[in-house]
Amino acid sequence: MCGIVGYIGKKKAIDILLNSLKRLEYRGYDSSGIAIYCEDEKKLDIIKKSGKIKDLVQEIERRNPSSSHIGIAHTRWATHGEPNDINAHPHFDCNKKIALVHNGIIENYRTIKSFLLERGHKFKSDTDTEVIVHLIEEFYKGDILESVKKSLKMIEGTYGILVLSSYEPNTIIAARKGSPLIIGKAEDQMIAASDASAIVSLTNQILYMQDGDIARLTKDDVEIFNLETDRITDKEFEQIDITLSQIEKGGYNHFMEKEIFEQPEALQNTFRGRVDIVNGTFRLNGIKDKFRDLLNAERIIITACGTSWHASLIGKYLIEKFTQIPVEVDYASEFRYRNPIITPKTVVILVSQSGETADTLAALRESKNKGATTIGICNVVGSTIARETDCGIYTHVGPEIGVASTKAFTAQVLVFFMLSVALGRKKMLTFEDGINLIKNVEIIPDKINEILNDKDRISKIDKIVEKIYNKTNFLYLGRGINYPVALEGALKLKEISYIHAEGYPAAEMKHGPIALIDENMPALFISLKDSIYEKIINNIKEIKARKGYVIAIANKGDREIEKIVDDVIHIPDTIEELSPLLAVIPLQLIAYKTAVKKGLDVDMPRNLAKSVTVE
Ligand code: M6R
Repeated sequence: MCGIVGYIGKKKAIDILLNSLKRLEYRGYDSSGIAIYCEDEKKLDIIKKSGKIKDLVQEIERRNPSSSHIGIAHTRWATHGEPNDINAHPHFDCNKKIALVHNGIIENYRTIKSFLLERGHKFKSDTDTEVIVHLIEEFYKGDILESVKKSLKMIEGTYGILVLSSYEPNTIIAARKGSPLIIGKAEDQMIAASDASAIVSLTNQILYMQDGDIARLTKDDVEIFNLETDRITDKEFEQIDITLSQIEKGGYNHFMEKEIFEQPEALQNTFRGRVDIVNGTFRLNGIKDKFRDLLNAERIIITACGTSWHASLIGKYLIEKFTQIPVEVDYASEFRYRNPIITPKTVVILVSQSGETADTLAALRESKNKGATTIGICNVVGSTIARETDCGIYTHVGPEIGVASTKAFTAQVLVFFMLSVALGRKKMLTFEDGINLIKNVEIIPDKINEILNDKDRISKIDKIVEKIYNKTNFLYLGRGINYPVALEGALKLKEISYIHAEGYPAAEMKHGPIALIDENMPALFISLKDSIYEKIINNIKEIKARKGYVIAIANKGDREIEKIVDDVIHIPDTIEELSPLLAVIPLQLIAYKTAVKKGLDVDMPRNLAKSVTVE
């Protein structure tokens, strides 16, 4: 989950590396650093600093390094060793001839370290990474590529690495296993990075490295070898369509704010071209080859992490409702360790915004190993999960940079809606049902716009934020299809405002958590006029009887609820199956505005990283 980038070419390497690092900072921001080959002194120089990239920039200005056209850089999410200057990447070998950046975890680093210590290597950091660069030094016999290959054969774990050496100052070696790595090519320039956002300001011509690939990059050529077979693998560069404006803030204060406000357009992109009005269904070309497997599945397992797991819970509700196929939802981190029951008629759906989450990827590989049909729901085109699943459905909401996921969540829910309608139409839904469901989806973007652009509603949310921002606990309560929305609201508040929050099924309160209720515990109810509205009103009354401060998310016309709760945020009406897409919007805004009010770093909350590529 760190970000790595390497550049070689006609421009000033430091400028390119810093620009790319800023775009990768969402992957980790405990420390950052660069290594360059100084052409005048003919040696490597490393500058690194704990903290954010702005701290590195200051350090570079202070040190004023000499010019260079080749370098590697890193932004860190700490795993082994605290986030200080010494543990920051890049790391040197003993003789400062080789520098390396790494994203991943070396599982057998202790064994390798003992081996290297016996041979006299001196270590400076507490990281697992440092063993790789000393191993390369140990094996170096005049060819840097060969020594990297030999080293990687000894390593267990995951890595995306870039190696720069003063032995071969016109070359960068790149290798990947379990951590993403992409190469970009422009005229007389080559760049390698953890993801495309770090590359697109330079080029749209990219090549996805595969696990087991090792590459030698020069400014105008790239050779890729398979580590196992040692053979050269032929790979084509392809054109990607991410634009710079998609990964910039575009006038918003934070990426999270931009991504919340992008949702109407983003969701339009999710269903664009997929509506099949003639047949009253959705056309999901990405899964057409496995559609029969889904229809005939005895069981569907959906597995994911974090926000994607919440979207999956809604997916279960929708698929079961429209198809009656039994669905289980599992945390990816639990799934692979519990010997899941997978038969030839089990379909596993993997949900991941980034398509790189290590736990979800491991669950995918375990599912394939056991013979399941696998389907991905990913946002990042060409990501590892998207490529390794049998087939999939992209959410198509463009890059999501804010660590707190927003538009990816609503898009995942929408994909599940489309999928369950498409399946349902082959089972229990009539043509009229299909048309009605499509019509309701088509007006969702306008309804989200209505929530986001109504000044009265926004000022109501601001007033609520004034009341809650200094609280230490918060409850989110919902039922049925909106119970996962309560979980999502709580996760958003926790991760960016650091207020302890829990999501609960509202009726579970009386089985224990109600003991927490007093005037200091805000409780937010998603209380929409759906099949269980009356029951949720009873749950609200139970809280009010105990002097709790209650906020309700309610339907536009629901005036009665104003009499029993303290504050109401009204949202437009829609059908129950689509209500999470509207109910979650005020929750995203509450979390965002609370974090801003507290003066916290919304896009880079402490201890987190956007894509969690370690287990
Ligand atoms: O990229 P993924 O969807 O696989 O990521 C899964 C979680 O790490 C992610 O949703 C995380 O929980 C977010 N920070 C939530 O806002």
